[in-house]
Amino acid sequence: MKSLVIANWKMNPETEKEAKNLFDLIRSGIKDIKNVEVVICPPFVWLPILVGSSALTFGFGSQDCFWEESGAFTGEISPQMLKNLGCQYVILGHSERRIYSGETDEMVAKKIKAALESGLEPILCIGETAKQKKQNKTKDVLEQQLKESLNHLITQSFDRLIIAYEPIWAIGTGNPCKIKDAKEVLLFLREFLNKILGPEISKNIRIIYGGSINSQNAKDFVKKANFQGLLVGGASLNAQEFIKIVKNIDKA
Ligand code: PGA
Repeated sequence: MKSLVIANWKMNPETEKEAKNLFDLIRSGIKDIKNVEVVICPPFVWLPILVGSSALTFGFGSQDCFWEESGAFTGEISPQMLKNLGCQYVILGHSERRIYSGETDEMVAKKIKAALESGLEPILCIGETAKQKKQNKTKDVLEQQLKESLNHLITQSFDRLIIAYEPIWAIGTGNPCKIKDAKEVLLFLREFLNKILGPEISKNIRIIYGGSINSQNAKDFVKKANFQGLLVGGASLNAQEFIKIVKNIDKA
C-alpha cells in the first residue's frame, strides 16, 4: 500500500490566488511520485476551486464536517456535500478543533459515523498534552479517545479509517515526538485496535503520525517507526519543503 502524505493547510492561505499558486507549485513538484498518495486538505472555501483544477492527481480532504446530512445547522458542512464535491477524506477531531471549538469525543464519534456513511474516509486525530505525557498518561488518553470516538463503530464493520497520532505538544512547535516513543505508541495503538476490532478490521486501518514533520525527519517516521503516512501542517504551506517531504517518502 502507498504511504499517505496529508497536507493540513489549516486556516491558510488568505486568498484564492495564493491557494492556487501553492497548489500548482506542489502539483508540478510531485508529478512523478509513485509510492505516495498525496492528499490536500485546504480550507472549505478553496476546495471547489482546487478539486476542479486537479485532474485527480491528488486526493482531497476537508478539515472538518458536521454529522447531519442537511438541514437547519447554520455554518455547518455535511459529509455528503464534501463527497459530492469530490473529497475522499475528512480530518476529524483535530486538537485545534477540540481546543478552539470545544469538540468532544462524543461529537467526533458522530462525525466519524456520518463521514463513513457518506463514503468519506475519516482521519481521526488523537494525541496527549504535554502534561499528560509528563504524567505518563499517554496510553490511557489515547485509549480513551479511541474508545469514545469509535463508540458507534465497534460493532459495525468498516475498513475506511485512518488514525493520526498527533501529540498535542508536538504540533507547530518544531519539537516532534522521538522516533522510539512514536514507535512504541504505534505498536500500542495497533494492539489496541486488534483487541477491540479484531485483526481483520484492524489491518485495514492506517495509522499515521503528525506533529512538526519536516523534510529532515519525515522519512524516519515512515521508515524507522513504521507509520503508514504523515499529517503535515506548517511544512505543507511551503511548496518546496512539502515536495521534499513527499519525495523523501517516495524513495523511502
Ligand atoms: P504541524 O501540524 O506539522 O505544523 O506540527 C500538524 C497538524 O496539526 O496536523
